[in-house]
Amino acid sequence: MTVHFIGAGPGAPDLLTLRGRDLIAACPVCLYAGSLVPAAVLAHCPPGARIVNTAALDLDAIMAEIADATAQGHNVARLHSGDLSVWSAMGEQVRRLRGMGIAYTVTPGVPSFAAAAATLGVELTLPGVAQSVVLTRTPGRASAMPERETLAAFGAIGATLALHLSIQNLSRSVADLIPHYGADCPVAVVWRASWPDERVVRATLGTVVDAMPEGIERTALILVGRALGDGDFGESRLYAADYDRRYRPQSADSPWAEWTPADD
Ligand SMILES: C[S@@+](CC[C@H](N)C(=O)[O-])C[C@H]1O[C@@H](n2cnc3c(N)ncnc32)[C@H](O)[C@@H]1O
Repeated sequence: MTVHFIGAGPGAPDLLTLRGRDLIAACPVCLYAGSLVPAAVLAHCPPGARIVNTAALDLDAIMAEIADATAQGHNVARLHSGDLSVWSAMGEQVRRLRGMGIAYTVTPGVPSFAAAAATLGVELTLPGVAQSVVLTRTPGRASAMPERETLAAFGAIGATLALHLSIQNLSRSVADLIPHYGADCPVAVVWRASWPDERVVRATLGTVVDAMPEGIERTALILVGRALGDGDFGESRLYAADYDRRYRPQSADSPWAEWTPADD
């Protein structure tokens, strides 16, 4: 029997992958992580499925559910919001599954930082402005940060930042980032990206705290960086008319001159 970890996406039910949908439909047991997995995703469960919200369970209780299901010959769909590679608590579950000798698969989901960027209609890596995105968070009640993973350290790089799990630390984060990015650096806060009630606040590091309306809490992503700015960036060489490349050799001397798509 197998436990299928499935990234359920940022919220909109149609941002679930087809593979994820089909696995959910094939599993008679579904464990899902609380309020961030929409009911419409659970609607893919087969009739009569056992559907368990794990928000109120501790890790032992979750593993007991899985052990019971697999002992009865059932495959399990295990849903977490967004993608599983970040802040899903999949790592500790997988470690226990290995110890129990239970097989598992992982199906990726649309991460919330990508959904937030889509809401904003922006690319987070722009030529000459930012070529790296740092996915990070600030300390929370349940999670300390490793000593070297500070906003100041990431800010020193100047990369685009996607701050998760941090809306409650907005003032402190802004204070840490202004010395590196400047008070005029663009910021966007996207609350519940892709949900019907999503909200967006666009501001700068200097203005964002005062710009925040009431009610923006918990499920929000803070994006920081010059890539969120007003379009002042170069174009990539990839599509430049004179760029010599496999698909568009520029002369008979090009290393790609003899290449045809069939060679690939
Ligand atoms: C426990 S983490 C889960 C991250 C998730 N695994 C992912 O791939 O994005 C929860 C945090 O992700 C962010 N988040 C998740 N869904 C979001 C959404 N729809 N809109 C904005 N932020 C979201 C928020 O920062 C929230 O505090």
